[in-house]
Amino acid sequence: MRLTLRSTLADVWASPVGADVLSTLLRQLGLGTAWVTNPVVRRLRLSQIKALAGSRVGPGFFDAILRLLNTEAPPPNADPATTAPDPWWKRAVFYQIYPRSFKDSNDDGIGDLGGIIEKLDYLRDLGVDALWLSPVYDSPGDDFGYDVRDYRAILAEFGTMEDFDRLLAGVHDRGMRLIMDLVVNHTSDEHAWFQAALRDPAGPYGDYYFFRPGGPEAPPNNWTSMFSGPAWRYLPERGDWALHLFSSKQMDLNWDNPAVRDEVIDLVRWWLDKGVDGFRLDVINFISKQPGLPAGDETIGALIGYRGAENYFYGPHLHEYLRQLRTEGFDPYGAFSVGETPGIGRRMSSLLTAPERAELDMVFNFDHWETPGKVRFDDYRYDLNYLKAYLVDWMTHYPPSCWMSLFYDTHDTPRWISKVEPSGAHRRELATLLAVIQLTLRGTPFLYQGQELGMANQRFTSIDDLRDIESLRLYRELLDAGKPPAEAFARVLAGTRDHARTPVQWTAGPHAGFSQAEPWIRGDGDEATGWNAQDEAADPDSVLSFYTAMIALRRAHRALTDGEVRFVGTTRRDYLGYLRTCEDETVFVECNLSAHPVRRERRPGAFTLLASNYPTVALDGRLRPYEAAVYRVVTVRPERL
Ligand code: NOJ
Ligand code: CA
Repeated sequence: MRLTLRSTLADVWASPVGADVLSTLLRQLGLGTAWVTNPVVRRLRLSQIKALAGSRVGPGFFDAILRLLNTEAPPPNADPATTAPDPWWKRAVFYQIYPRSFKDSNDDGIGDLGGIIEKLDYLRDLGVDALWLSPVYDSPGDDFGYDVRDYRAILAEFGTMEDFDRLLAGVHDRGMRLIMDLVVNHTSDEHAWFQAALRDPAGPYGDYYFFRPGGPEAPPNNWTSMFSGPAWRYLPERGDWALHLFSSKQMDLNWDNPAVRDEVIDLVRWWLDKGVDGFRLDVINFISKQPGLPAGDETIGALIGYRGAENYFYGPHLHEYLRQLRTEGFDPYGAFSVGETPGIGRRMSSLLTAPERAELDMVFNFDHWETPGKVRFDDYRYDLNYLKAYLVDWMTHYPPSCWMSLFYDTHDTPRWISKVEPSGAHRRELATLLAVIQLTLRGTPFLYQGQELGMANQRFTSIDDLRDIESLRLYRELLDAGKPPAEAFARVLAGTRDHARTPVQWTAGPHAGFSQAEPWIRGDGDEATGWNAQDEAADPDSVLSFYTAMIALRRAHRALTDGEVRFVGTTRRDYLGYLRTCEDETVFVECNLSAHPVRRERRPGAFTLLASNYPTVALDGRLRPYEAAVYRVVTVRPERL
């Protein structure tokens, strides 16, 4: 049904895109979705809401929203999906490597492929099945590899193509798999395509990017970049502008040009011919822009922190382009794909990942990353009850044929244990609680380097400690807006991605055993107090030992990978409980999401403890701070529980 100003909120809620957009807006406003089900509110027409909102929203707000709501997903593929019924990635545990910070093998202070090769046994012993490598391609490093200069070459700082081949063989020899980061929403401005387009605007590369005419005074529209400032760069060489949703050296590719899509498919096949097992697709939902690049709405921009996103985060050809990429790129190789899809909600995610639609295998959804009403740079304590609400919602409503990714830390966010407990209190218990949740729920877990060690946020003391372009640009923007330096630094510190990019803490020795040389970004010495892989490997009660045991437990119990999920005690604050059930087994998990004691659930039957993040059993019927326990249910039929 085409939505118009005469449509009611109930009509909007009934459409998958409508429900996701409404949920996102409400979440950003710090509100729940409960009121959408209120019978009076549901009958309101958009025109009435428009009148009520008056001048509080910009003039284009409703046009922008309606345009988005009327973006239709094409029907399922006539040709059934090629995904095998039981693909390997559903039972896999992935581990993300940010190569620059993982391990330095030649002591220049920068992590590299040789360093990853050195640590392959460590990864095998941890028990992970697949590695996701953040970009290792040749790049000028403006966004540390997310600005690719040559998709078929390895960054010299990281090694050579021979090193890469050795790495891939080493991964496969150990029975693991490797996926690459596919960064194709944009290229570096130093990529040969962009350089050719600069030299010869009318030539074959002239339409590979979003070039728009106009004098240097004003950019073609009001969109802002994810890294502060306008999303446009003026090019004196050509006398026009080019679009960049990220840094001014990350130029957006024009996917509407079929030649661009062919190039991407070619490079995907080039890596698959080498034997890689799949891809993580960087901001892949941004590849289709609304024709004409309409102005971004101010109200939406203020809510989410940058302008224009409603015109590209779910563009008109997104599904079509993903299908082509899958059919011509991934499917001939049976390759796995997980899309990074910021802003995409649960219902849109299912449109992108339902097997019969043959687009992506999985997506990374970020709705759980911040508590409603907060953004990453706000200094606040994350409430795990919100993580619970998110998990219950997804696990209950995500269609059974779709498959979730389960993740907290990545290279794009501060460390989760520090978001929950900034003081560092209960560090071990909290880190292991998060491990239990991630490794016993239905979906594919993605760990991020250092998470298995309980690595926490860094005590950076000055802006000079930071390296990430996003942080540095935000700091400048805040100063330009008149914020005192201390205040600007505090805001950047709360959200900087550099918390996750300090060297992995391998030993208590110099530079945490990462390198003999001063690392490109410095950690704060946390490794000296036992928080490092060497000491943790020797300690059966460490976070590392716990992760290793939990990954093994997941592998040993089919209920944990394949089982149905049923939540219990869902209305109890600070309590998370669920049953995982398959034909021959039921596992019960219960968790305390807080730092104070919480009553255990009394359930019928006998239980055998399979894992706990406390070394002793509590006898008073209460879960201790951040306690998590996993049991096998032995005597009761699952339906009675
Ligand atoms: C998402 C990546 O994860 C992030 O690190 C990067 O800055 C942007 N995409 C741009 O490529
Ligand atoms: Ca190095």
